[in-house]
Amino acid sequence: MTLLSPLGSPTMSERERDEGPGKLPFRSAVVPAAGLGTRFLPTTKAVPKELLPVVDTPGIELVAAEAAEAGAEQLLIVSSPGKDSVAAYFAESPELEKELAERGKEELVAKVRRAHELIAVRTVTQDEPRGLGHAVGCARPAIGPDEQAFAVLLPDDLVLPTGVLTTMAQVRERYGGSVLCAFDVPREATAAYGVFQVEDTDDDDVKRVRGMVEKPAPDEAPSTFAAAGRYLLDRAVFDALDRIEPGAGGELQLTDAIALLIDEGHPVHVVVHRGGHHDLGNPAGYVRAYVDFALADPDIGPDLRAWLAARLES
Ligand code: G1P
Repeated sequence: MTLLSPLGSPTMSERERDEGPGKLPFRSAVVPAAGLGTRFLPTTKAVPKELLPVVDTPGIELVAAEAAEAGAEQLLIVSSPGKDSVAAYFAESPELEKELAERGKEELVAKVRRAHELIAVRTVTQDEPRGLGHAVGCARPAIGPDEQAFAVLLPDDLVLPTGVLTTMAQVRERYGGSVLCAFDVPREATAAYGVFQVEDTDDDDVKRVRGMVEKPAPDEAPSTFAAAGRYLLDRAVFDALDRIEPGAGGELQLTDAIALLIDEGHPVHVVVHRGGHHDLGNPAGYVRAYVDFALADPDIGPDLRAWLAARLES
């Protein structure tokens, strides 16, 4: 049991004891997946957007693989009534596996097994769509009292190559508190993101966060560093989530809980991601991700590349 400092987060020595070398910085990864997916209607009448394939693999499996790779042991999917197929996707399919094995399709058996072998999956339900902050708060009862930090991965966001969570864990080890992932966006795009007010550290890729605002207009954005859908949050965020009021869009925003923690002196840093990023949350971003993954696929990439080149010429 960890004693808490007055701020509600463990002191450096307490954290070192609980999360020291060889210990995982976090065990749970929360994946909010309760949205209606309105941008993908009519498909999302029947298929949750988290299950739409990027070539052949649903976006949520890509995110589950990233969480598992970073050391997470449980994936907490925040789902909503009517979206049971998201959790069902991670269940075993013994009949299908048997059928494929009998036909000698071992590669397909491996594909089918991957999702449920990756990581233990639990679902929690968000009964009403009250925002990302509220969704993260719904995961609280499923996070052990000894877990001082947990990850949040937004399944709309693909941050590539994977591995940023591991860097974020190293930053927490150094500075404590919460660590997010930022990427530099064009100023005209700030209104789609949570945007950070930052200060340099001795590492060009790590910034101290002095403030955070959800979806600011370009002329009001404190920088062009935007939240990229990866969070390593100290459990102090739950207490902050209890104290925020509805913000942008009338929703309980995770950004506002983080801003409150910053105001109260909780250390928050960002790792600046300089690699690729895809937004699976809208058709235009989804198509780009799909094409990008397809081009990288050794089986279908070369033909697709040739076809696209010819198509663009015509
Ligand atoms: C959410 C967060 C926002 C973040 C974004 C990343 O917004 O609220 O801070 O920058 O994800 O994709 P949403 O895309 O759900 O509107």
